[in-house]
Amino acid sequence: MSSKPSWSPSSWTSKPVAQDVEYPDRKGLSKVLSKLETLPPLVTPSEIERLRYQLSLVQRNEAFLLHAGDCAESFDACTNENISAKIGLILSFSLILIWGARLPIVRIGRIAGQYAKPRSSRTEQVGDREVLSFRGDNVNGLDIDDRTPDPERLLRAYFHSATTLNHVRGLLTSGFASLHQPRDWSLSHVRSPSLRNEFESIVEDLTDALDFSRTIGQDAGASFELGGAKSTVGEVDFYTSHEGLMLDYEQALTRECPVPKSVSSVPNEKAYYNTSAHFLWIGDRTRQLDGGHVEYFRGIKNPIGIKVGPSMQSDELVRLLDIVNSEKVPGRVTLITRYGAGKVENYLLEHIKAVKLSLHPVVWICDPMHGNTLTSNTGLKTRHFRTIINELTSCIRIHSECDSRLGGVSLEFTGELNDEGFSVTECLGGSMELSEEQLGLRYQSFCDPRLNFEQSLDVAFLISKHYKDERRGKQKGMEKDVLFTELSGKPSS
Ligand code: PEP
Ligand code: CO
Repeated sequence: MSSKPSWSPSSWTSKPVAQDVEYPDRKGLSKVLSKLETLPPLVTPSEIERLRYQLSLVQRNEAFLLHAGDCAESFDACTNENISAKIGLILSFSLILIWGARLPIVRIGRIAGQYAKPRSSRTEQVGDREVLSFRGDNVNGLDIDDRTPDPERLLRAYFHSATTLNHVRGLLTSGFASLHQPRDWSLSHVRSPSLRNEFESIVEDLTDALDFSRTIGQDAGASFELGGAKSTVGEVDFYTSHEGLMLDYEQALTRECPVPKSVSSVPNEKAYYNTSAHFLWIGDRTRQLDGGHVEYFRGIKNPIGIKVGPSMQSDELVRLLDIVNSEKVPGRVTLITRYGAGKVENYLLEHIKAVKLSLHPVVWICDPMHGNTLTSNTGLKTRHFRTIINELTSCIRIHSECDSRLGGVSLEFTGELNDEGFSVTECLGGSMELSEEQLGLRYQSFCDPRLNFEQSLDVAFLISKHYKDERRGKQKGMEKDVLFTELSGKPSS
């Protein structure tokens, strides 16, 4: 048997690195990285292992994964209002899912570190100037005079991640997530009466269920919510994630730690954990088998995601799984498929078949956002709600036809509101029927367009209803366009 090539947190440096950032200030970079190496971890091995375990439950259809947040966070958006709105939306979304699917939800935010972006082109033309592309707040600035990669930004990314995570932890341990007060997550600005009514009726049913269980002397809230994972209603599990793009940064936050006893069969076992986030994913542009990112990812013990787009070959996918999960550990790999509504039919089936044959345990989730981006007539980047739902619907159906199961969704959404309490206008359609003319009203993303609060709840209700019907035996699998037809009465073209 061939042994595994040796690995270290820096072994990736001997491989070609896609989307690499060139820092003119090399000395500054080394100084920053040395500092990062001494800073405390942001997350712990026991939290990381707990997530891996919960993902193994997703894989066994005993839980559902919600992976969601911004395309890219920015330092300026690190405010109480934005973070609370994001967590509130994730909690509202998961509550709706729990109600329909009656499964615990594993929540992973694209938060507390999602500051770097891959770009299709190294430079961009702005007027008559060719400037370096904006690569995210931890590399350079959006302002065209601030495009030189600045290593100090990596430190700022660390501290903004720490502040964000601290606030999230604070919110979740001080009653914000309490299932007894879900109204606090603020639906006040949702103008659609039907959305509000539906949400409020779930909340009412849930409150009744909790009252009932209290009356009979058993607070069933926790086990209902989390599969018994936590003992108090009001505390929920929440995990952080970002794309593991900036390998210098990831390496500096990679620490050799004792493996928690609960998951270790060997005395004094140690392993390398990336302590900058619970979950990291490899982007569709950086998943080359012989590249630096795959090399780095194969050695960390965190659960990881792999974006799978139309250019992924089936045998390549299996080889990739062999590399990053040679021991076939359940919960270790989540495949995040993002083909585009028009392409999912051509690719997903083959990918599922190949992975099944390989006997690799994986969680499959659908990212219906990244294959469905288009430029509107006004020149703004957008996505149509209908196309998003179409890809999701096809995914659920194809999995069901292959005796596989969609384990979750990966969405770009935001609960952000402007000063007057209006949500963003970046994606078209949904129950609010956002039109092209309205896109410019409150377009705030400096990266990909995100679903707003109402559009996100629309998605949550559609998924929730599907699983509720399935639970009640109304439908096995899902006919094409059922989700969409239910929402608007007409299938998309
Ligand atoms: C993303 O998730 O923001 C992203 C860039 O995705 P992908 O790598 O799938 O294009
Ligand atoms: Co994106």
